[in-house]
Order: sequence, then C-alpha cells, then structure tokens
Amino acid sequence: MSIKKTQHKTSGISGKKQKTKKPRKADTADKHKLYEKSVQSTDFEYEFVDTNFRRIRGRTATLMREDFCGTAQMCCEWVRGRPENRAVGVDFDAEVLAWSREHHIASLDDKQKTRVTLLQEDVRKVRTEPVDVILAMNFSWQIFEVRKELISYFASLRDALVDDGILFLDAFGGYEAYQEMEEKTRHKGFTYVWEQASYDPITGHMKCHIHFNFNDGSKIKKAFTYEWRLYSLPEIKEILLEAGFSQVTVYWQGWDEDDEPNGIFEPATSGEADPGWICMVSAEK
Ligand SMILES: C[S@@+](CC[C@H](N)C(=O)[O-])C[C@H]1O[C@@H](n2cnc3c(N)ncnc32)[C@H](O)[C@@H]1O
Repeated sequence: MSIKKTQHKTSGISGKKQKTKKPRKADTADKHKLYEKSVQSTDFEYEFVDTNFRRIRGRTATLMREDFCGTAQMCCEWVRGRPENRAVGVDFDAEVLAWSREHHIASLDDKQKTRVTLLQEDVRKVRTEPVDVILAMNFSWQIFEVRKELISYFASLRDALVDDGILFLDAFGGYEAYQEMEEKTRHKGFTYVWEQASYDPITGHMKCHIHFNFNDGSKIKKAFTYEWRLYSLPEIKEILLEAGFSQVTVYWQGWDEDDEPNGIFEPATSGEADPGWICMVSAEK
C-alpha cells in the first residue's frame, strides 16, 4: 500500500507537528503592485494633464492615449475621471496587459470598461484614431537611444494627435543622474530600491534596476530593468521641435517651506542646478 503524499502534511511518524515553512515575502509579493506604489502617481498625472490641456487649449481633453502603459493604471484613472473620457493604452508586453485586465480593468464599472482599449503593440507602429492627448510617462521614451529614432517616434505621435492635440511626458536629470548609485525608499511593508547600475558618458547609455526588499530579509532583485539614453532637457526640446511640434514647454517643480519639492510643476524657462530633478514637458501640435 502506498502512502498518500498529501496526508499528514504537518505530522510525522512520531505524531510531532512539523513546522510549515512560512513563505518568504518576496515569493508572494506582486511586483506590479509594488511598482505602482513606489513610482506611480496617476492622480497627479490626471490633474496635471487635465489642467494644462485646458489652460493651453481652452477646452477639455477627452480621448487620451497612454504609450508604454504597463499596468494601464493611468488609462483607468482617466476613464474614471469623467463619463465622456476614453483611453487607449499601448504596450507590447502581453503579461503586463493581462495583469492590467485582471487587476485594474476588472474593477471598473461596465460603462467605464467600454471606454478603455488596451493594444498589445509597439508604440512605433501602432495606429490609433486621432487623440487629444498622448502621455508617455516614467521616462520610457528614452529607450529610443538614437536621436533619429526618437525624432521619428515623436513625429508619429504628432501625426496621431488631433489638430490641437498635446503630448505630455516626463524627464529626469541633475548631476546625481549620472552617478552609479542606489537609492532606497521605505514604504509600508517593503523598501523600494532604485539602482543606477551603469552610465556611459560617451554614448549616454544608462542601465537601471528596480529591486524590492522586505523586512523578512527576502528580496526581489532586478524586478524591472531599464536601458536608456539619458537625454538632457535642451536636447529633448530640440528633438520635439524637429519632430514638428510647434511649442515645447518645460514644467519645473517648486519648493515648500521646508525646502522640499512641493509637487507643483509650473511652466519655466530656467531651472536650478538641482542634484536630482524630475520635470514635466508638453509638446503642442
Ligand atoms: C517603465 S514602464 C512604464 C509604465 C507606466 N506607464 C508608468 O508610467 O510607470 C515601461 C513599459 O513600456 C513597455 N515598452 C517598452 N518598449 C515598448 C515599445 N517599443 N512599444 C510598446 N511598449 C513598450 C514595457 O513593456 C513596459 O511595460
């Protein structure tokens, strides 16, 4: 008679209870959830895009395309924002889009669901109906490391916009951006680690990783890896103008009374030599 392997999981022959091994946090954590908690702020993005589109164009944007959408959290934020808002998310990774459908799209109501479309496509090749706004966030557009390729991508975005459409993106820099270093940020239940693993001053190529550490000592190493060219703001402005945009605006962050960044980004024509800054950019068709 064979012994059933599933029986007596916790008691051995002696009848003594064996300890079941507690799963390590790194084995059960969801890296997409941790990513969103660490680096995304879709309420800020919504407010920023909505307010600045209305300020520049004097009307409300309704159709938004999110390139490099990942989990498409922003698409969902957009369609929840107003009953007439529609969103198209573009990402070539089937796995992250499936995650989005299961975790974000599934929690929208039936009407909201009909107003989001996710396309598993390359942002350089996708064709969409003319949109009011295109959003390319978290520096993803920097994967186009050859200037000509970036110009051609931005030109295709200009073509994909309605006549008074606007592209919004973000950028980062400062002298710390060129350093090979690690920065840790504590969150409830985990630590987010941003690693600038390498930077090549000749090509401008940089490699970065996101790791997550947990208080039981377990880690998700290299949860995400990015390879980019670190473009400077004057380069980005020139490239957007070369791609055919008529007006490019940089939005610089202000300071609060404790000399901390205040989360408010205003149009600016000069900034400070901050060690590490992020900013927003708009490019008008
Ligand atoms: C840094 S995540 C951005 C996620 C999210 N939009 C955000 O703001 O945090 C980059 C995403 O871009 C996607 N991606 C990279 N290159 C792409 C391409 N050429 N076409 C479509 N998606 C691409 C990756 O699959 C990944 O999900």
